[in-house]
Amino acid sequence: MSFVSGVGRFTVAAALMSCLGFTLVQAAPPQVTTQVKSRQDKLRDMGGALKAITDELKKSKVDFDNVIIPNTQTIKDRSAYLLNWFPKGTGPETGVKTYALPALWQKNDEFQKLGKEMQAEAVKLEQIANSRNQDALKAQAVAIGKACKACHDPYRSPDYEKENEE
Ligand code: HEC
Repeated sequence: MSFVSGVGRFTVAAALMSCLGFTLVQAAPPQVTTQVKSRQDKLRDMGGALKAITDELKKSKVDFDNVIIPNTQTIKDRSAYLLNWFPKGTGPETGVKTYALPALWQKNDEFQKLGKEMQAEAVKLEQIANSRNQDALKAQAVAIGKACKACHDPYRSPDYEKENEE
């Protein structure tokens, strides 16, 4: 009896909440939280690596061995896996804090294409770094920056920039 009325009360409460426009947001499953955190860490490494390269290129003497080459390797290695970091079910609908937009799964062909284009730019970046041609490297650093942005503009929430201002 008390069980029945308990359920009844819950149903009424839920109906009332949905009338009022509330949605019951469930806590994100722990493995989703881990997956999202791990991809954000790796993306941050890529961002740090690109920044290290562009900062180094502003100096009069560029350190290829200790700065440029290892950082281009980080970007190249990570970029090869980027498309594996976004399995279905790791978006904001899970309640987890992510800047990935749902459009990424809705227009997944385009997302994949942008990921592959960036990957190709990362391969070139590393090759040019190894050739030690500073002017070509500057141009390629700009090109890869554009390839990152080409995906961030449609598929990463603008909240990222708002919340992570330097
Ligand atoms: C194919 C799409 C795509 C490409 C290409 C891409 N990113 Fe991202 N990036 C994302 C998405 C989506 C997120 C949001 C991830 C999340 O919050 O779960 C993101 C997040 C980030 C973040 C924020 C991580 C954090 O939460 O602190 C950084 C930094 C970043 N990317 C750097 C880069 C760099 C550097 C490149 C290019 C070398 C790049 N990304 C290329 C899709 C992409």
